[in-house]
Formats: sequence, structure tokens, C-alpha cells
Amino acid sequence: MSWLVTGGAGYIGAHVVRALADGGEHVVVYDDLSTGSADRLPEGVPLVVGSVLDGAALEGAIRDHAVTGVVHIAAKKQVGESVERPLHYYRENVTGLQTLLEAMTATGVGRLVFSSSAAVYGMPDVDLVTEDTPCLPMSPYGETKLVGEWLIGAAARAHGIRAACLRYFNVAGAAAPELSDAGVFNLVPMVFERLESGDAPAVFGDDYATPDGTCVRDYIHVLDVASAHLAAARRLADAPEGTSLTLNIGRGEGSSVREMVDLILKVTGKQDIAPHVTGRRPGDPARVVASADRAREELGWSARHGLDAMIDSAWQGWRHRRG
Ligand code: WQD
Repeated sequence: MSWLVTGGAGYIGAHVVRALADGGEHVVVYDDLSTGSADRLPEGVPLVVGSVLDGAALEGAIRDHAVTGVVHIAAKKQVGESVERPLHYYRENVTGLQTLLEAMTATGVGRLVFSSSAAVYGMPDVDLVTEDTPCLPMSPYGETKLVGEWLIGAAARAHGIRAACLRYFNVAGAAAPELSDAGVFNLVPMVFERLESGDAPAVFGDDYATPDGTCVRDYIHVLDVASAHLAAARRLADAPEGTSLTLNIGRGEGSSVREMVDLILKVTGKQDIAPHVTGRRPGDPARVVASADRAREELGWSARHGLDAMIDSAWQGWRHRRG
């Protein structure tokens, strides 16, 4: 098959592009380069620079490259920014997806792998989140991902599109330093930034109802997220019309902020620094950990990389970017 990967020049996208290409799939990247970079692409992978809001450009890319499936990763993804700019987030994430689905139906492309997020669950009050846990997103960002899943479900039913919505949990790490996350919006890079400026890492609250009082999350290596896309793409290639999967992409193991910070201090050789506990960050759920059963059953996929590899590779990437 020939896959169009939107957002393929971004952090997660570039890892997915490699996994697909290494898996023998033909890949074309479609990216507006607003946060992505052409340097991330392996040699021989064509790049079409364009917006997901530009239906004519999407149709052109699909026709020019004989695309038969789409992996839609391009999106705005900062929770805090989505609260400040909800219209922008709905436009980019929901109207962008709608425009893509219109281009797909106009050109007869019938397979779609979609980047969704654990943000669709909001504040789940369960030990392990299954795909049937009620979705109550707490931010416009999470809402756009849930609405996107609904839109895809409706298009799958009406137009026979085969689709897989992958709900990523907390992604970290890199396959190589130059592919690392350039943003500083999540725990691991935020701790690196504080360490670099000589500050103690911040722990946002230690009075949660968790074993050590800090929030628990399911951290997953971006290499595992990428291999889940390859597995989903292959699954859709042979699936009957109208197949619509929704899958958690996590390890099924929880780690607390304190455990993560301790591990980061160990990996960076800064064990002498004591983390600084601040107040809670508004909107943070105490615990969000995936049940990874359905992805294993449906795709034969499960995560293989652990926390050490995630943090070590993220640190190599940080040092590569910041010198
Ligand atoms: C993890 C934990 C913080 C920084 C968000 C989105 C989710 C997904 C991933 C995109 C929390 C704590 C953080 C720091 C801390 N995004 N923390 N000190 O909030 O679980 O998930 O990013 O798809 O949808 O909601 O991730 O990395 O921001 O925070 O104590 O300096 O680390 O409070 O408990 P989060 P995060």
C-alpha cells in the first residue's frame, strides 16, 4: 500500500514514517512544517508541504502519489493552548480531519489510522482505562480528538472506510537524538529544562490518592507508538469494509511523577538534586493507565521498551538539541 502520513515531519510522525518505511510500506509525508521539520525525514520519502485545511492540495497529493491509505497525525496538541484558543484547535483538528475525509472519499481512499489521545477520557476513576471507559474530555484538545473519533466512526459506517483510532497515552523517548521531541510541554522535557537551568524539578502536587501522592501515568516509548501504527496499517489492509477500531496505545503500567523524576535524576547523573513539590496543576487526573489488552488482541501488538530506554533516549535527544 501507499500511505500518506500527515504530520509526518513532526516528533511522533517521523517515527511512524520510519516504522512504515522499514516495514516495507510506501510512504509520502504531508506536513505544513508549522512545528515539523523536513530534516526528520529519511532519504527517499517524498514531502508535500501543505495544510490539512487545504482539500485541493490533499487530493493532489493523494492522486500524485497513488495513495491508498492515510495515517493522520497532523494536529495541534497542547492542552493549555487549546483552552486559550479553542476555535483554532477545533479548526485544525476537527475541520482538518473533515477536509481530509472529504479528500479521501473524493479519491476513493478507504483506509485511515488516526492519532487520538488518552485525553478523551478526562479524569477516569478506574485502575485501568479500557476503550469502553466513558469519555469525558477535560479540555478543548481532548474534545477535538473525541469528536474526530465520532466523525471517523460515522464516515466508516456511511462510506465503508476502514479505520483505527489510536489513543496514545504519555509518549516519550526517541529512536535517534535528531528525532527527539523539540517541544517542552510534557514531564520529561520539562524536568530536563529545569535541570539545565540549575533548578530543581517541579512535582505538581503530592497529595493525590496514589501510593506516593503524585500523579500516575502510562509512559510509552515513541518507538512502540510507531510500531503500533505499522501493526494498525497492516490490520486495515486486509480488513473488511467499515471496520472501525478504537485502541489504547499504552504499556498498561503506571509510573508516578516521583518515580519518573527520580529516574530522570539517575539517568542525567543529578541524584544530588531534590525535587521541589509545588501545588497541583489544575485539571490533572490522579491516575491514567491503559488497559493494553484490546490492542494486543486486535493487532498482536504490545509495547517492548521500558522507562530507562525512554528517558535515556530523550536525554540524548535533549543534549543533541541544546548542546
Ligand atoms: C504528566 C504528569 C503533571 C511537568 C498530556 C495530555 C495528553 C497527552 C500527553 C497529547 C502530570 C506532572 C509535569 C512537571 C510535573 N498529550 N508534571 N512536573 O498531563 O498526563 O498528558 O500530555 O496528546 O493528552 O493531557 O502529561 O507530561 O504534562 O504531565 O509534576 O514539570 O507530570 O502534573 O501529573 P499529561 P504531562
